[in-house]
Formats: sequence, C-alpha cells, structure tokens
Amino acid sequence: MGQKRVVVGVAGGIAAYKACTVVRQLAEAGHSVRVVPTESALRFVGAATFEALSGQPVHTGVFEDVPGVPHVALGQQADLVVVAPATADLLARAVSGRADDLLTATLLTARCPVLFAPAMHTEMWQHPATVANVAMLRQRGAVVLEPASGRLTGADTGAGRLPEAEEINTFAALLLERADALPHDLAGQKVLVTAGGTREPIDPVRFIGNRSSGKQGYAVARVAAQRGAEVTLIAAHTAGLIDPAGVHVVNVSSAQQLHDAVVKHAPEAHVLVMAAAVADFRPVRVAQAKIKKNPGDEQAPTIDLVRNEDVLAGAVRARTDGQLPNMRAIVGFAAETGDENGDVLFHARAKLRRKGCDLLVVNAVGDGRAFEVDHNDGWLLAADGTESALESGSKTLMASRIVDAIAAFLDGARG
Ligand SMILES: Cc1cc2nc3c(=O)[nH]c(=O)nc-3n(C[C@H](O)[C@H](O)[C@H](O)COP(=O)(O)O)c2cc1C
Repeated sequence: MGQKRVVVGVAGGIAAYKACTVVRQLAEAGHSVRVVPTESALRFVGAATFEALSGQPVHTGVFEDVPGVPHVALGQQADLVVVAPATADLLARAVSGRADDLLTATLLTARCPVLFAPAMHTEMWQHPATVANVAMLRQRGAVVLEPASGRLTGADTGAGRLPEAEEINTFAALLLERADALPHDLAGQKVLVTAGGTREPIDPVRFIGNRSSGKQGYAVARVAAQRGAEVTLIAAHTAGLIDPAGVHVVNVSSAQQLHDAVVKHAPEAHVLVMAAAVADFRPVRVAQAKIKKNPGDEQAPTIDLVRNEDVLAGAVRARTDGQLPNMRAIVGFAAETGDENGDVLFHARAKLRRKGCDLLVVNAVGDGRAFEVDHNDGWLLAADGTESALESGSKTLMASRIVDAIAAFLDGARG
C-alpha cells in the first residue's frame, strides 16, 4: 500500500495516551499522518508529543494557520480519518454537525472513510444518547468500533475501553485497502468462530501441535464483531494474539476441548466458522510422567494415535439431525496442497462435498503460504457450486471478504 494521508483525531479521554501508539504505527507504516487533537485532548497529551510522532504541525482550532485553511483542506485531502479515542462529547458533536474546532470541521469536510474508536465509561457508552449517536454515525456510513471490555479509568471494569492501537490500526489498514469493508450488517446474528491450533498432549511437557497462528480466525471474529454480530471465539493456541474487542473469548487447548466448546456454544449460534486447525489424531495414551530418554536405551518410544472427532462434520450432522435449529451458515476452512491426484481446488471441492458445509474457504499451503504469515489468498467455494477467488491481501481483508460471503449467504437464505 502506498503512502496515504491519514488524519488522526484525538478527543479528550483518558485513553488519549494510546493515540500516541496509533500515530506512531501509522507513521511507521509509511503514511503521512496529521494529528488533530481537541482542546481537551491536549490536557492529557501535549501537542509536542503528537508533532514529534507525526513529524507534522499540530493544530486544534480553526483560527490557527489560517492561510492554509486546514479546517477545510485536511478533511478534503484525507484518505482516512481515525478518531481515537472518540469521547461521548465528540460523538455528539460529530452527529450534530458542529464545527467548533478543527477536528469537527475536518469531520464535516471529509469524504473518505471515517473510523471512530470510542472510549468512555460503560454508563456513558450505554446511555441512550450515545447509543443513538453511534447508530446515527453508522447510518451515515462512518465506522464506529465496539470498545473493548476491561479495566476503565478508575477501579471499575466494563465495556468502554479503547481497543489496543494494533486493533484500531488493523481496521485503519482495512479501510485503506477496501473502503466498504465494514458495513454494520450483522446485528442480531450470533457467530461462533474457532481459531488457532490445537495441542494433543503426549506427556506433561510434550504435545503434537500444528503451525496455525490463529490470525485468520481472529480476523474473522474481529470483523464479524465490528459488523455488529455477537461473536464467541473459541481460541486454541495462537501466536500471542490480542483478544478482539467486543468478542467473548473461550480458551481451549486440545481438539477434545475445542469439540466440547463448539458443542456447548453451537446451539445458540446462527453462524459457525471453523477456522481452527484441529488435530486429526491424538495419542491413545497420555503419559502421566515425562517420557524419559534413558541412557543406553536405543529404542525410541512409539506413540500410538487415535482419530479425533471431526468437529465440522459433527456440526453439519447435528444441524441435519435438527439439533441446531438456529444454525443458518456453516463455514469450513481447508488448507490444501495439490498432489498427483489433482490440484488444490480439486481436493477442496471434494472436501466441500464430503463435509457438507455451506461455504468453504480454501488456502493453498506449503512454501510459507497461509500459516503464520499476515497475508493470505485462496478461494471461496459455496455448496451451490459458486466459486470465487480471494485475492491476495491482509488476513483482515480476507476476513472482510469471508464475512461478505456469509452476509450474502444469510441474505439469500432469508430471501
Ligand atoms: C480524567 C478524565 C478522564 C476522562 N475520560 C473520558 C473518557 O474516557 N471518555 C469520555 O467520553 N470522556 C472523558 N472525559 C470527559 C471529557 O474530557 C469531556 O467530556 C470533554 O468535554 C471532552 O471534550 P472533547 O470531546 O472535545 O475532547 C474525561 C474527563 C476527565 C477529567
């Protein structure tokens, strides 16, 4: 992605310090960043910090740098405006079209995607005024992120924390890649996502694992939640990923635990996305003590394996048997390589037929592709025979395309 012009608005919340990381990461990504704090924001973080991090002058009012007319120019020229943190007050001013400082004036002149990352106490976030303001901004096409839950300013906890800078910038990058990636179109949908790689214990210290980083599944959970879905993420082992904001995370380790968690949560879900890399086999016996390498013992131990239950096929079967009356879309993932019998798509089509899911996301693996990396490509196969290519892009972009397909599938099923 080439250099883009990004305006970072900072409103006066306690989380204003996190905007420094947002700015730093955007600048490090090669973008031209202009920081526009409100007067209140400057009581939390000084202009010098933002000027140093962005390498650009920082103004707050419309009467600064008048010859450059920044109150019009900044918004007109921006490729993206990110407001982080967005206070309750800033959201209200944005809704009512105020232009009483440089940030609100910029929001009125911007025609690019606008991303608000709200942060406030739970009471402020849940107040009908804020709820209505958020709905109005979304209706007008802005992206308003769900805040994270956790520790707030004081000793209290709840929904209202600013998502981590990495998470905000993930969405910033997504909107720069694809402006229409985050419609708020999944409200009312309960989405169950599995992600990461399972570990099958051999003894107290060893396990059979796999190379799944969890990034693709986390990205699907993150995008679905920000598109309005109520998301539960069953997370096996990942590359130390941060929990997506607004998502209920259930941690598991082995294939059996993942299976049990899916069985527990699937009856409520409307959509199941099986992105986890679930081990096909597990050791028949788990040694209670560490298996020792005894001196002089040349014979290596043999580990007998037994098949794990196929979670995806089990979910499809349960739906067919009428045990999942709410379930409207089941999405499988296939990491495939070609062989002498056929190419990746040949094997993927066979898998789609075998598993009986509604959509199958197919990644070609091997040669450093798909696993542990940030970029991905592949195909999306539907049970009705439709096939589309998922062009190469970030895993978040890929997730937005997968969620598009799910939304379209739900629409089709409804209509
Ligand atoms: C210590 C402190 C922390 C605050 N944190 C928040 C916050 O996290 N979210 C919020 O909406 N308002 C917060 N406020 C209130 C805002 O600062 C206040 O509404 C201000 O008018 C916001 O102005 P602005 O939206 O123009 O930046 C806080 C105030 C103080 C004194």
